[in-house]
Formats: sequence, C-alpha cells, structure tokens
Amino acid sequence: MSSDIAVGIHDLSFASTEFVLPHTALAAHNGTEIGKYHIGIGQQSMSVPAADEDIVTMAAAAAAPLVAAHGSDRIRTVVFATESSIDQAKAAGIYVHSLLQLPSACRVVELKQACYGATAALQFALGLIRRDPAQQVLVIASDVSKYELDSPGEATQGAAAVAMLVGADPALLRIEDRSGLFTADVMDFWRPNYRDAALVDGQESINAYLQAVEGAFKDYSEQGGRTLEEFAAFCYHQPFTKMAYKAHRHLLNYCGADTDKEAVEAAIGLTTAYNTVIGNSYTASVYLGLAALLDQADDLTGRPIGLFSYGSGSVAEFFAATPVAGYREHLRTKANRATIERRTPLDYAGYRDLHQRTFPGDGGDHPTEAQTTGPFRLAALRDHKRIYEAR
Ligand code: COA
Repeated sequence: MSSDIAVGIHDLSFASTEFVLPHTALAAHNGTEIGKYHIGIGQQSMSVPAADEDIVTMAAAAAAPLVAAHGSDRIRTVVFATESSIDQAKAAGIYVHSLLQLPSACRVVELKQACYGATAALQFALGLIRRDPAQQVLVIASDVSKYELDSPGEATQGAAAVAMLVGADPALLRIEDRSGLFTADVMDFWRPNYRDAALVDGQESINAYLQAVEGAFKDYSEQGGRTLEEFAAFCYHQPFTKMAYKAHRHLLNYCGADTDKEAVEAAIGLTTAYNTVIGNSYTASVYLGLAALLDQADDLTGRPIGLFSYGSGSVAEFFAATPVAGYREHLRTKANRATIERRTPLDYAGYRDLHQRTFPGDGGDHPTEAQTTGPFRLAALRDHKRIYEAR
C-alpha cells in the first residue's frame, strides 16, 4: 500500500431515459413565465423514465459500455448509490450485476445519503483500490428525481445514471486524497419510506447547500488543500443548474475573491450543459457536471478540478480531481451526446400519465408497457419481484 499510487476514475459513462419533457410544456400547463425555468433556475428540459425504466435499467445501461470496454475480471466491488431506491433490503446493484453478468466473486452494496451518496461510494472505492491496486470498483450513481405534480420542485425533476470504473493508474482523472467534509442535521429535503415523491423546503435547501459549500471548503483548506486559484474549473452538485452559480459565487465571497460574471462563467459554465437538459439526477448530478466539463473544455491535463458534492440532510464533500495525460482519447463525448439526443419529447399529458403510474402492491403479475428502446427494461412486477430483461 502506498499513497503515491495514482488512483481515480478510469472510465465514465452515463445513461438517461427514453423520454424528455421540455420546460416549455410544463410552463404552458401551469402558466409560469418560461424565463423562470430557463433563466431563474437554469433548466431547459427534464428526463422522464418510460413505464419500463427505473434506476436499475439506467444503471445497467450506463455501466454496460465500461464492462464491454474493460471486461469485468478485475471488478470485485460494485457500489450503487441512490436515493430513489426500489427495495429496502436488496441492493439495486445486484440486478445490475446480474444483467451485466459480472463475476460471482464480487461484493455488491447500496449506499444512501441523498445526492451525496455517489461521492461516498467513490471515496470508499479509492480506499479499496489503495488496499489492492490490482482491483477495480464499479461505482454507479442512479436516480429518478420525483416531486409532487404542481409543486415548486416539479420543474427540477430529472433522471440519469453515471457509471465510473475506479482503479489505479486511471486513464481519465486522478483523485487527490485531501477532502473537505461537512455534516449538519437539517430537514431541507427528505423522503419518508411511505412516500414516492420527496418532500422539500426549497429555500432551506438552498441555504443549507450554501452553508455546506463554506463548511466543506473551510475543512478542505484546514486539511492543507489547494487554494481557489489553483483550480481550472469547479463542478458542483446541480439540483438545478442555477444552484451551481449561487454556490460558486458564495465560495468566491467566502474566500474574498472577485465574483465578476466572467470569472464565474469561466469556472463553471461548461459543467451545466448536461444537467440543464437532463434535470436533477440526484447522486449522478455532480458527475454529469464533470462529464460535461471534460467533453467540452480545452485540454485540462494536469489542471485540478474542484468537485463539490452535496446531499440534503446534510453531508457535503469538496475534493480535487486532475485529468491525466491522454485523458481526451478516453472520453465518451459522442455517446454522451447521443444519450441526450435519443430521448423522445413528451407532451404534458404523456408526462403526467407516467408521473402518476405506480405498481399495485397486491403481489399479482403486472407486466409493464414496452416503451423503452434502451438496452435493458423492467419487464414486470410479479409476485412482488422486479423482473428485468436485456433486450
Ligand atoms: N425570469 C427570470 N427569472 C425568474 C423569473 C422570470 N420570469 N421568475 C422567477 N425568476 C427567478 C427568481 O428570481 C429566482 O431566482 P433567484 O433564486 O436567483 O432569486 C428563481 O427564478 C426561482 O424563483 P423562486 O420564486 O425562488 O422559485 P420557487 O419558489 O418555485 O422555488 C426552488 C425554486 C429551486 C426552491 C424549487 O424549485 C425547489 O424547491 N426545488 C427543489 C429543491 C432543490 O432543488 N434544492 C436545491 C438544493 S439541494
């Protein structure tokens, strides 16, 4: 074991849903001035899962290209982070393990702490790699963000999965050991076990997020972390993309730095391209921001990127990732754009119908409508069991 081994993200792929709802359709339904969505919260459209899609089908679709490219021989751990879990006991990752035919000599576990879960998964993965650099860990973040119809949170819904292959000598990004941590007991966003849609105190969540930015960066500095000026860009968790702007301005103010518009845009502008059309993907959101940055930025080799992960409730972490030489050859830019462009637009009625769907809890045989054209589908709920199939 040695801390001089480079560890980090070897490959990253994401998936989203079959459908997309443009915010213009939502605005036309509820009479909202579209500027509130497009400018006020910074959202253009939201991914909407088909009747036969869920966190497992998205996760498997995100992870499949990684397994196809690198094989699964070295994957001895799968960590699945989600806050829209489908079962209170069984880890969703086991379905993915099965769909992707991963080796049986593998540990699979699910992690939860709101939108922060995937960062915990990534940090735990790095620890495992440090223990045995020959192994790889498949980290998956997959979520469907769902709020009540006609609630303020509705416009920030979305869905996506990010899969990251974590290992030694990574081809994309080296993750640095230093982290800034922050935990505070707040009720800004939560979802009791008996509820399908989350509860949220919107303004409280924005305030709690900003406090967490400050707290995590303060700890990061006290741990001997980099100074603000050393970072080429910053990726924030994006419940809605405008939040990244609020967060970065808050950090600059906290550090006594200049908050002019150009400086903020240069630091975070590129990170919002995917989240603005996908919506909130909870655990996956900050890593979609990272993918958007890497896909669009000029060469970032050797230039640290600051990542801020926030999960309501709340836990936050600030850490640094540095693109390694040659990383651009390993990006999945074309596939990432295709994932976004392949979605079929819904009208408001179609979205509402999907939003209101639930499975009856009677243990009967409930086949799902065949809607997705993706590689995996949820075929039925039968005898209280989810039945998945590869297409
Ligand atoms: N043109 C441009 N901007 C407009 C506008 C218009 N026509 N109308 C409103 N806005 C702006 C507002 O000024 C505001 O901007 P500001 O925050 O910079 O002041 C923004 O749009 C949102 O308006 P607001 O009235 O605050 O919206 P809301 O009460 O519907 O709530 C959220 C917005 C984000 C709080 C709500 O969507 C929510 O609860 N989301 C879920 C929780 C969440 O995402 N939390 C984040 C931390 S995890």
